[in-house]
Amino acid sequence: IINDLTSENGHLTISGVDSVELVKKYGTPLYVFDVSKIRDQIKKYKTAFEQNNLKYQISYASKAFAVKAIYQIMQTENVHVDVVSGGELYTALAAGFPSNKISFHGNNKSFEELTMAVKNHVGVIMLDNFHEIELLARILKSEQQQIQVMLRLTPGISAHTHKYDQTGQTDSKFGFDVESGQAKKALEMVLNNPNMKMLGYHAHIGSQIFGTEGFKLLAQKMIKIAQNFQTDFNYWPKILNLGGGFGISYNEDDDPISPTEFISQIAAELRNSGEEIPEIWIEPGRSIVGPAGYTLYKVGSRKDIPNLSSYLSVDGGMGDNIRPALYQAKYEAVIANKMDQATTQTVHIAGKYCESGDILIDQQALPTTEPGDILAMLDTGAYGYSMAMNYNRNPRPAVVFVENGQDKLVVKRETYQDLISLDCDY
Ligand code: LLP
Repeated sequence: IINDLTSENGHLTISGVDSVELVKKYGTPLYVFDVSKIRDQIKKYKTAFEQNNLKYQISYASKAFAVKAIYQIMQTENVHVDVVSGGELYTALAAGFPSNKISFHGNNKSFEELTMAVKNHVGVIMLDNFHEIELLARILKSEQQQIQVMLRLTPGISAHTHKYDQTGQTDSKFGFDVESGQAKKALEMVLNNPNMKMLGYHAHIGSQIFGTEGFKLLAQKMIKIAQNFQTDFNYWPKILNLGGGFGISYNEDDDPISPTEFISQIAAELRNSGEEIPEIWIEPGRSIVGPAGYTLYKVGSRKDIPNLSSYLSVDGGMGDNIRPALYQAKYEAVIANKMDQATTQTVHIAGKYCESGDILIDQQALPTTEPGDILAMLDTGAYGYSMAMNYNRNPRPAVVFVENGQDKLVVKRETYQDLISLDCDY
């Protein structure tokens, strides 16, 4: 990862922009996204589908990073987006994103959220459970409206990733279980509801997946399920949505395979079935925005414990990136203003939050550092800002997009005033 970085005069550059200049202009901590990488990644998925002659749709899973500007990028790239809450839906709509290209996910969408989705004519509601089918039926009836739906199924596949990142196995809070007949019952309800237009089946087997095995199995299973329901209801899906979860490389131990590989293996599996292949949708989040993101911090204090280890602290931490503390996620970092210097030490990169677990990187080799140096953590674009919080009343960082040598502020830095803006006196 580090070998792929570019620098000029010893400064890390991101899409042609000097990261040290970005820090001067916007302060730290700062999230920076290289928009050209986002566009490239989308192009790779599109090309992979086209090479394999599949009808397809890419739906960006916006939970990975959900601010107005990213929905606007997705609009210019002509892809769909997924939302999982009224808040994400609101943001997408406020960004001007076309509602008919939005899919609405979630295992407990509220009456209010579903009403909002119906009134705004979202493209697809991903039906997750019986309670939701009933709520939606009520809303559609009273609004006298039709809406497209897909059924989220739990296909009984567990991808081998971190346990919190597994969602497709049978014992899961998401979707309709196939084995026990829940999915069949749900399909019957939907097919019998004149206000629901059944588009197809959805499944998502997990996140940060490296191998194609899970996806191949999923493709097989989904076709099998579709065949069974074809027999039961004479219904063949227009769309199969295989979810997201394509892994990225956070450090040298990670060995993800390319979109081309993923898609061609899925395509081969579908062809093997001999069936009419539905349109294939995927919902990548992490792989679209993750590698495009950098977090820039300022180096501050340092603690050296003789003959043991050194803690180098930065001015952010678990509030802007909870992933190391929550999932033991591993990242890599460089000193953005010393790209031409050799590494001389290995340190723990510590955050500033009042918790021993607030360690951003366990072991990082760095050149000799001093307070004021800029540490750039790499591949932080997914689930960083979107899971950011105000623990210890630290304001959330600003977000800047860079592309072709230009930078643009897309989320302002939170102020202390913002932090108390919802507090009421007592
Ligand atoms: N579709 C569905 C239905 C999902 O539940 C998810 C992620 C995605 C698509 C996108 O998956 P991706 O391509 O980003 O792997 N906060 C965790 C990740 C949670 C993922 C939840 N669902 C993390 O930081 O690792």
